[in-house]
Amino acid sequence: MNDQILMTNDLTKKYKKHMSVDGLNLQIERGQIYGFLGPNGAGKTTTIRMLLGLIKPTKGNIEIFGQSLKKNRLQILQRIGSLVESPTYYGNLTGRENLEAVRRLRALPEKRVNEVLEIVRLTKVANRLTKEYSLGMKQRLGIAAAMLSNPDLLILDEPTNGLDPSGIQEIRELIKELPEAGMSVLVSSHLLSEIDQMATQVGIINHGKMIFQDSIEQLRQKRKPLLKVGVNDVLKANTLLKERGVKADLQNDFLWLSQTDPAFVSDINAILVHSGIAVYRLEEVKRTLEDIFLELTGTEGSL
Ligand SMILES: Nc1ncnc2c1ncn2[C@@H]1O[C@H](COP(=O)(O)OP(=O)(O)OP(=O)(O)O)[C@@H](O)[C@H]1O
Ligand SMILES: [Mg+2]
Repeated sequence: MNDQILMTNDLTKKYKKHMSVDGLNLQIERGQIYGFLGPNGAGKTTTIRMLLGLIKPTKGNIEIFGQSLKKNRLQILQRIGSLVESPTYYGNLTGRENLEAVRRLRALPEKRVNEVLEIVRLTKVANRLTKEYSLGMKQRLGIAAAMLSNPDLLILDEPTNGLDPSGIQEIRELIKELPEAGMSVLVSSHLLSEIDQMATQVGIINHGKMIFQDSIEQLRQKRKPLLKVGVNDVLKANTLLKERGVKADLQNDFLWLSQTDPAFVSDINAILVHSGIAVYRLEEVKRTLEDIFLELTGTEGSL
């Protein structure tokens, strides 16, 4: 059994001279919740549109369920549910009627409407007109419609956009349960905290390029704390440490070292003090995921 659900190779979209998506190699395996993260304009929606066959790549290949999207478009799309940007409804129909319309169009089993209403927790308001729905209810209805066909892969483009914190949490909890029902999920967001709380894998895109793709644990590993060292002569201290094979970064008049265990810290202190350098600060600095995100996207942006 092949566990690869989705794979792109050198996926590229160019609008005139602008590279919206630039050589993406995306990989999603069965049962994963793949968080597709990037700031506004990074290329998330453009990528998703290509994965759904809505626009044509300038270059590159897409393989989904082990088949080429170019050659087996319809077969593949039948097994995908999607929500891209704000979903549209018939406002004068109820939530249930809207889902029923989609169900009939796609010739799906009748009982599925109630099932998805239950999953997205809209059963109670199912008979209200959708024009009276709150934004959160509308988003959930969109997810319900995407799930009607019981897809193997669900692709959600910023499903929490515009929601308040409790709405965001509801959608997050909903998405986290999907792999249990056998679904793999690609969900995009520009909020790291959101992806951090629901994804198992993370792909970070910036200016159309993938700058990180790995498990969420690997991303968290990057949070390892740093040692901030304040001395009266940073240049001299840096040279001394380098002579002893200790690598330090010089930033904002402080030296930044990559280890913080007690033995290491006291060694550093001893080396510096014995060489006549005044040490006025030895501090462990924890980095947030936001710091790492900025570091990743910021560096790339300045290239
Ligand atoms: N049809 C188009 N014609 C020209 N440029 C486009 C088109 N669609 C997207 N772009 C450009 O491609 C880049 C990526 O846009 P995209 O919508 O994929 O970003 P995004 O990551 O989804 O951003 P957001 O978080 O704001 O939704 C942007 O610079 C955008 O202006
Ligand atoms: Mg977008």
